[in-house]
Amino acid sequence: MKKRIAVLASGRGSNFQAIIEAMRREQIPATCVALITDNPEAFAIKRAEDAGIPVKIIDYSSFPSREMYEPALLAAMQKVNADLFVLAGYMRILGDDIVRAFPGKRMNIHPALLPSFTGLHAQQQALNHGVKVSGCTVHFVDESLDCGPIILQRCVTVRDEDDEDSLAERILKHEHQCLPEAIRLFCEGKLMIDGRIVRIL
Ligand code: GRF
Repeated sequence: MKKRIAVLASGRGSNFQAIIEAMRREQIPATCVALITDNPEAFAIKRAEDAGIPVKIIDYSSFPSREMYEPALLAAMQKVNADLFVLAGYMRILGDDIVRAFPGKRMNIHPALLPSFTGLHAQQQALNHGVKVSGCTVHFVDESLDCGPIILQRCVTVRDEDDEDSLAERILKHEHQCLPEAIRLFCEGKLMIDGRIVRIL
């Protein structure tokens, strides 16, 4: 039976688009039941509309504080009744209540080889550190930032002439393959979380 996935995105949504296209090609046995965004200006909204995916906007800037925003986001997530929430460029940290509410049901894509370079500007952090390879990581989300059990990683060679944009662009191409692949594995029941280790069955 097809799984129900919901995507959280805050901006451009190119990873979301890669998911939409993989579903169109029937590479992922799932239906996308919602795009949830904190940003009414997100280009991801147009991508959802074009694909006929329902959009739920929980506008972060309309809430007086993060403490007020989080319950609204939690309620929206509960309402869509998804088997999996995919954070595809969702630029906020999920609060503890949300993390507790959906254990093992949230995955995130990060543009570095975790556990290195967590948080924002991961590609610039990698350049500043002088690493020779970087890449992307899909991982389950737990209470710690960018630190949950790792599902898939892909490597990208760092070139001498790279700047943040050029490295980000090369990593992004791998993100667009890695994230749909991780979602497929989840939806086919092939991911087993064993402590920190994700076993691919
Ligand atoms: C990606 O690089 C993702 O890894 C990071 O934010 C970026 C989002 O890009 N978390 P997009 O919105 O999917 O195009």
